[in-house]
Amino acid sequence: MNRDVLTVPNRARYVAGPESDYAFAQGNAREQGLGEAVLLRRRGTTLGWIAVTPPSDVADHFGVVSDRWSNARPYVLPGYCCAAIPDYQNQIEQSNALMLGIAAGSSPADLLEQSCYSERLHPRFEMLAACSDEGDPQEIETIEFDVMDGDEVIAENLWCKCSWLSYENDDASLRFRFSFGMVGYEDVAADVERQLYAGELTEALFPESAIISNDTKLEQQLCTVFGVNKLAYVERIIYFNAPNGGAHFHQDVERGHLGVIFAQLYGRTCWAACSKNDLMDEVEKFVRNRENHVALQALLMDEAAFKTMVCIAEDRSQLSEVLDENDNNLFDLLLNRCPQFYQQLSDNGHVYILTPGDVMLLPQKNSDECCWHTVCCLDDFAGQALSFAMRGIV
Ligand SMILES: [Fe+2]
Repeated sequence: MNRDVLTVPNRARYVAGPESDYAFAQGNAREQGLGEAVLLRRRGTTLGWIAVTPPSDVADHFGVVSDRWSNARPYVLPGYCCAAIPDYQNQIEQSNALMLGIAAGSSPADLLEQSCYSERLHPRFEMLAACSDEGDPQEIETIEFDVMDGDEVIAENLWCKCSWLSYENDDASLRFRFSFGMVGYEDVAADVERQLYAGELTEALFPESAIISNDTKLEQQLCTVFGVNKLAYVERIIYFNAPNGGAHFHQDVERGHLGVIFAQLYGRTCWAACSKNDLMDEVEKFVRNRENHVALQALLMDEAAFKTMVCIAEDRSQLSEVLDENDNNLFDLLLNRCPQFYQQLSDNGHVYILTPGDVMLLPQKNSDECCWHTVCCLDDFAGQALSFAMRGIV
């Protein structure tokens, strides 16, 4: 295991494979002096049992953040927003009820007509039409808003898009994403003003967003790490990761953004997260190890595909390109459905458990210097989290 596995907080250790039962996994966790073992399961694939390692004794978290950030590596600030969560408990429960209502089939726009929301929206935001794109099976509803100053519209075409996270019937994970304009056509980074209005809209609907956005000390510390004067939290997302759900491996690079801050407010999630360089090292190491070949061949079920993977894993620039492709089924299988790969990622310190109050920082500088990550829900209920892109403001 790498030396910094012991010094970076919230690391999780892989204690048993997917075929093991609860008693065996707990026994292994106990023997290693770890907490309760939890089963990692996402979109029908069981990846194994993990347990959280003892708390780290890092004294100066932001000192470590600078080093990890400059290498595009993630960092968890353990319990960073624990103290602020009780002040927003009612709003967190309200958001949970909103998510449950949508999961039960209600329209997000209908639920947002409730007085608790309309009182917070008025008079700044005017809720307009709700629509859903028939061509996008993940979308539940998109609701448009205008920003008002008295009777005058000062910004238009802001939206809150509510979507399922996967196509799986037994994955109720969903998210609310806030932005503006035509998705895929508009350069959102070029319009800071509307990005800031979309952030304000998030706070009207999900006031618990302020746990991050109102924390001036956090902003100051992050500004020092990033070398900027002021920070804005933009392109905000409120996540509800549900049992059997979460996100497959991906990165979140967007022009103009420095990275992502993720705050777990309710429930627990497990993350595999590392820089793209580290991920490529892990892929190369895993594919090169002959002991993994039986597992890989069983996963790919195609000898030609296996040979292609071996060739690509040996060629750094090709591997980099393949990871950047949107849909690469060959490597998607390895990254998202291979228990042995998750065991290796954990052994090398790339797996974390987040509990309420933990905050994770994910650098996203460009497609070569960025943090890749994947998320699983660890509970038998859906949790809640904030995920905001960060950008420096002049
Ligand atoms: Fe992400």
